[in-house]
Amino acid sequence: MVGHTDSQHDTRCKACCRVIGASLGSMVTSDGCTFDSLRFAPWSTLAPSVNKPAPIEQLCEKLAASLGDATFVRLVLSAPVEAGDDPQKVLGRCVTLKGVPHLSLTFRHATRDVTKNLPVDESAAWLRSQLEHAFRSALLCTTKRDWQFRFNESGAARLISHRPSTRILPSREHDQQREGILDLRAQDWLHGLGVTNDAGHVRVSMADKYRQINRYLEILSHLARDCGWSGSPENVLTLADMGCGKGYLTFGAWHLFRRVWQQPVRIMGVETRADLVATTNRLAKQIKADGLEFVSGTIESAKLPRVDALIALHACDTATDDAIRRGIELRARLILVAPCCHKQLRPQLGKPEPLAAVLRHGVMEERMAEWVTDSLRALFLEWAGYRTKVFEFVASEHTPKNLMIAAVRKGESYADRSARERINGLKNFFGIQHHALDSLLERSGG
Ligand SMILES: C[S@@+](CC[C@H](N)C(=O)[O-])C[C@H]1O[C@@H](n2cnc3c(N)ncnc32)[C@H](O)[C@@H]1O
Repeated sequence: MVGHTDSQHDTRCKACCRVIGASLGSMVTSDGCTFDSLRFAPWSTLAPSVNKPAPIEQLCEKLAASLGDATFVRLVLSAPVEAGDDPQKVLGRCVTLKGVPHLSLTFRHATRDVTKNLPVDESAAWLRSQLEHAFRSALLCTTKRDWQFRFNESGAARLISHRPSTRILPSREHDQQREGILDLRAQDWLHGLGVTNDAGHVRVSMADKYRQINRYLEILSHLARDCGWSGSPENVLTLADMGCGKGYLTFGAWHLFRRVWQQPVRIMGVETRADLVATTNRLAKQIKADGLEFVSGTIESAKLPRVDALIALHACDTATDDAIRRGIELRARLILVAPCCHKQLRPQLGKPEPLAAVLRHGVMEERMAEWVTDSLRALFLEWAGYRTKVFEFVASEHTPKNLMIAAVRKGESYADRSARERINGLKNFFGIQHHALDSLLERSGG
């Protein structure tokens, strides 16, 4: 491939892939994923020339195996072959009906959802026919691995294995499948915020937002359970949503804790834009959302009580750091943030060897700046006594800003010197002079 221009490279690489795909069953990509590739023309005429089954077959086997050994988390089919009124996506989850596990499928059309339940032993055949005729892309999540299947433009099928996005098995209750956390009672605020239309359906333009809210609440509910907050009606649960904007998550968190868990709550949304605060307070009053309030102010300085949980979704740039610092100062047991733009570190980022040759590419520098920024955030939280997890909370097609940092306070704050050394080590390596959470390095003990 030496001497290919970008466009030549593109075409010739597809040609190379054909050869590679036909002769190699599996290889390892640079990010450590295993990469199964096989070239074939029409969707339905798969003729693997290697011993390993074709990617479709492998995926069907993995689906059947994960349903069989209860490691299945979810299935998503996307990139439909036909447009029009055919489903644009299919979402699969495992539900137990009359004591028997089923694959429950939601066919997501442009304006409506249709649900069907398949016996587990029919699921592999169903998936095979979908990938041969109806969809070009699939994601199978299990607690062991995630499997991403895709046909590229030239018809080559690939199956890539990733680390599992979650090791938590979702609930198999059938009712949850119908309603989830956002049950029918959520209609008042979802409609009030313009997420659903008059008929109660999610607006097409709000589908990604709706998914984000759902996913965020799912994660929040798991973490809140881990913190022992479900079923303790004697305690008032306090939560602050920093940079809450229109309040999607603030209403969502209130809905989860107050309406679904019937927990006494004090939930506060903090937002600089007074117009948004007025609108959200009006809606909270209209739906009689007791314990929910919106406060006009900044993340850095809004007057807040001690909180149990602090969340921030897409607070811009260092506003995420301010949210983290406030969470630590307010002694939040749980801090859950999904960062947005990452501007602070990029101009400071050096080009240490052996990365210099890589970081001369702007896009790599940008990604490295994001990577370092969020890694440092997780390390600062660890220094402050939190156990952290960093993961993707929704697929990148819904939002490219899909990284989440979840931190649960476990240990003593500012006591583990090795955590502090890890921060300094990473900063020194990249030549970073200042990070928005540096003031935490001055703290010590307790
Ligand atoms: C990208 S929006 C996200 C809104 C909301 N969290 C969501 O995900 O729907 C960021 C919001 O944070 C607010 N914001 C940004 N910096 C802030 C700060 N320092 N203090 C309070 N609000 C802030 C903005 O006005 C905006 O409404």
